Amino acid sequence: MTTDWPAVADGEASARRPPPQGLGAQGLATAWHELGAKGWTILRGLPLPLLGRGTATAVLEYASAFGVPSDRDGGHPVRRVAPHPGHQGTTFSSRAGDAGLHTDSQYHRVPEDLVCLLVVRPATEGGLTRLLGAGDAVSALAAQPDAERILDALAAPSWRWQVPREFACGSAVAKERGYRGASVLPGDGTIRWRRDNISGSTPGRLRAVAPIVERCLDHAEGAVTLTLDAGDMVVVDNTRTLHGRTWFDDPRRLLLRVRLWRRP
Ligand SMILES: [Fe+2]
Repeated sequence: MTTDWPAVADGEASARRPPPQGLGAQGLATAWHELGAKGWTILRGLPLPLLGRGTATAVLEYASAFGVPSDRDGGHPVRRVAPHPGHQGTTFSSRAGDAGLHTDSQYHRVPEDLVCLLVVRPATEGGLTRLLGAGDAVSALAAQPDAERILDALAAPSWRWQVPREFACGSAVAKERGYRGASVLPGDGTIRWRRDNISGSTPGRLRAVAPIVERCLDHAEGAVTLTLDAGDMVVVDNTRTLHGRTWFDDPRRLLLRVRLWRRP
């Protein structure tokens, strides 16, 4: 999928900031090119300090090569993505299991532009990252028998999502006055989606298509599954690429996530 993202023109961003240690100028330029061309990129084998404060500093440095870190939800720009005992029913970043293809921050009026996920410890089995571009998602949906009804529903600007419990208290969402919902597919090449926390205030005729959409995305041609090792970081265009993961139950799996705003 080719995207139109002025800020990711070859070399532009790398010219603005020196590449972090462990990420050369050429590697950064290649990453920006891939991000613009297909909506995601992988940086392999980044040096990782011993787990602790140094790891968070490192991921923040790597991520900052791509944008401005957001601390809007949770108050800190680096979030551990790891199973928390007793958090089986909550957001993807706090539990084991799979995660359906989704975009982050879909509950905000304006989601962050990019999501970085750095692998600190992969799961012993499963927990592989899945990605699907918005263009491939639309193609898969357009091939459904009831495509017109589905695509009409997804274009309606009336979809709403619940704020995860962890972020609901004092969340910026409460300040987004007048936010009445958004389109899943507004028609400009972007997408926002997460099936499992669609709000009950979303009209029923829209919610009715959600299971079909989820199943279609899950089996879409064009979805890729990535095997990432410790020190690998995937950078995803959160407006044009869905991400998710395969099932896992390894309690030691650990990723660090940083959401980013595009630099002005
Ligand atoms: Fe996510």
